[in-house]
Amino acid sequence: MAQDGQSQNIDALMAESRTYPPGPAFTEQANAKPGFYDQDHDEFWEREGRERLSWFTDFTKLKEWDRPYAKWYLGGKLNACYNCVDRHVENGLGDKVAYYWEGEPVDERLTITYADLQSRVIKAANGFKSLGIGKGTKVAVYMGMIPEAPVTLLALARLGAPFTFVFGGFSASALGSRMQEMECEYLITQDAANRRGKPGPLKPTADEAMDMAPTVKTCVTVKRTGPDVEMKEGRDHWWSDVVDGQDDDPKSCPCEPMDSEDLFFLMFSSGTTGRPKGILHTTAGYLAGVSTTHHYVFDIKPDTVYWCAADIGWITGHSYIVFGPLINGTTSVMYEGTPDFPDKARWWQIIERYKVNVLYTAPTTIRTHMKWGTEALQGHDLSSLKVLGSVGEPINPEAWIWYRDNVGGGKCPVVDTWWQTETGMIMVTPLPGVTTLKPGSATKPFVGVKAAVYDESGKEIAPGDGAGYMVVKEPWPAMFRGLLNDDQRFKDTYWSQFSDAYLAGDGARVDDDGDFWMMGRIDDVMNVSGHRLSTIEIESALVSHPDVAQAAVVSRSDDTTGQAIVAYVTLNDGAEGTSEKLTELREHVGKEIGPIAKPANVVFADSLPMTRSGKIMRRLLKDVAENRELGDTTTLADPSVVHEIKERAESGKEADKEG
Ligand code: PRX
Repeated sequence: MAQDGQSQNIDALMAESRTYPPGPAFTEQANAKPGFYDQDHDEFWEREGRERLSWFTDFTKLKEWDRPYAKWYLGGKLNACYNCVDRHVENGLGDKVAYYWEGEPVDERLTITYADLQSRVIKAANGFKSLGIGKGTKVAVYMGMIPEAPVTLLALARLGAPFTFVFGGFSASALGSRMQEMECEYLITQDAANRRGKPGPLKPTADEAMDMAPTVKTCVTVKRTGPDVEMKEGRDHWWSDVVDGQDDDPKSCPCEPMDSEDLFFLMFSSGTTGRPKGILHTTAGYLAGVSTTHHYVFDIKPDTVYWCAADIGWITGHSYIVFGPLINGTTSVMYEGTPDFPDKARWWQIIERYKVNVLYTAPTTIRTHMKWGTEALQGHDLSSLKVLGSVGEPINPEAWIWYRDNVGGGKCPVVDTWWQTETGMIMVTPLPGVTTLKPGSATKPFVGVKAAVYDESGKEIAPGDGAGYMVVKEPWPAMFRGLLNDDQRFKDTYWSQFSDAYLAGDGARVDDDGDFWMMGRIDDVMNVSGHRLSTIEIESALVSHPDVAQAAVVSRSDDTTGQAIVAYVTLNDGAEGTSEKLTELREHVGKEIGPIAKPANVVFADSLPMTRSGKIMRRLLKDVAENRELGDTTTLADPSVVHEIKERAESGKEADKEG
């Protein structure tokens, strides 16, 4: 269990005993009241599906489960864009704000109403249509946090074109391989994104990626920052040329009726091999799942101002910046930049300016704010806040309490939401009017989510009886429907360890009250600043450098990023482990995968600890990285190797302190 060595974290989580029952005033007005869990699951999802979504053709059957294949809302026809945009305008909510968009430059702000959003989306959809995009056309999106990002997703949804959004921090080869795998024909991008006052190029990276993905024949580029980028004749178009002159009448571009189970989008995620997994999400179940959880978990009211501070390029952005909130007709804040630009008070200014009621962010960001101290918060009126959310990794009780006390003024419930790209929607979470909160616990499975913890043999571990594998026993509406081009991998990774449950890949335990405590990944997946990366992916990137003979990657605990990447590298003869080489290898990984994957530490070694059968013993390297006693070394071919590495790592740390 917990091979990824979050043991310190786990100890802290296990030792936590503070509890925070819901306030009666909150419960009184809450969307989910006591008794919420007593509902019949199928009736609940049937009702939510009917009432929360508008259907062109009603569904005839709630679900079908032929393990591991699920279908939801069978026979139904609907359109995501119609549900997110058009019907709100038809219902008289055209003047309601959909997004308060705040650019990174302090003076750049836009208020986008639902009517504005509709006009922008229809123009974009007409523009895309004029280039040949239609139902079933596969499109890649590579953008930052600009209004055109949700507009693009909605326009594609309107046309029935499945998309994959690749996070703007990914490299050319990461984007290229994803487009290639999906066989995308189009790419929508922007020239560059604002990043701490400087343009971070996207189109030049996209150009390199398109060279790797010959199926992409057409690219549309939003001009955001300048200066000019290269435009390839016949392939590249400016967004303004394609979109601006288009008709914005809804009749000019009707919403394509999609089957409930039509492919909606693909999100690539790191797995335990070098090849990223193309996680498939379909239409109706996903939309019902994300909008329902959004409504109850964040206690959304008609006048709520909601801010999910994730990036649109991750599943959190898809589910809880775009589709969940828009289906619910919510007013959201969307911010382009980083929390420290131009200074560390930026977030608190935004909350004050828009009177934000709900903030949803990641533990790593909370810990970063903690490190900066509370000065930046001083003088900002954050009293509008009502609910605080956390997602992406286990939140340590210290950060949880800091968040509650300093951001939430000691009065806001903190909802620690556990879920995954695969689950599509929040799965284990407090409900702010119902749940007694415990710092560090994601508490209870959402209605209709049959989560459990299993031991090695597939037996359910009873509450209070210790830790095991996090599983889900029944299908849920927003669950992924498979992996692109790899059904065997889908079965092997998630459905083969236990015959009757979905294997999430996390360790967990349930306490005596039935509350879940998530303990991090049990496989070779790391979680760095809430980003999922596999050790093998980074090892492959390292060995693709001509000087690297062998590489082993592990994670260690880090106060800010949760986990940090440590790479042990042996070099080819003739290459030297200098500090320049170290920088070069970090840059190389950044270029191969993206800056988020750069190792925090690189340790050069003459050889790596191997078993006699030639397997690298990552467990021991992990002990070195965590600076703890070495575990059992008896199975090593040459135990002296790991002792040498340990000495080298320790002398490296001393040198760091001195230097
Ligand atoms: O290990 C769990 C962790 O993030 C993984 C899923 O990562 P990803 O698919 O990138 O989705 C992140 C956003 C939903 C999980 O397997 N994780 C996510 N939320 C939590 C968490 N770990 C503990 N507590 C959470 N609240």
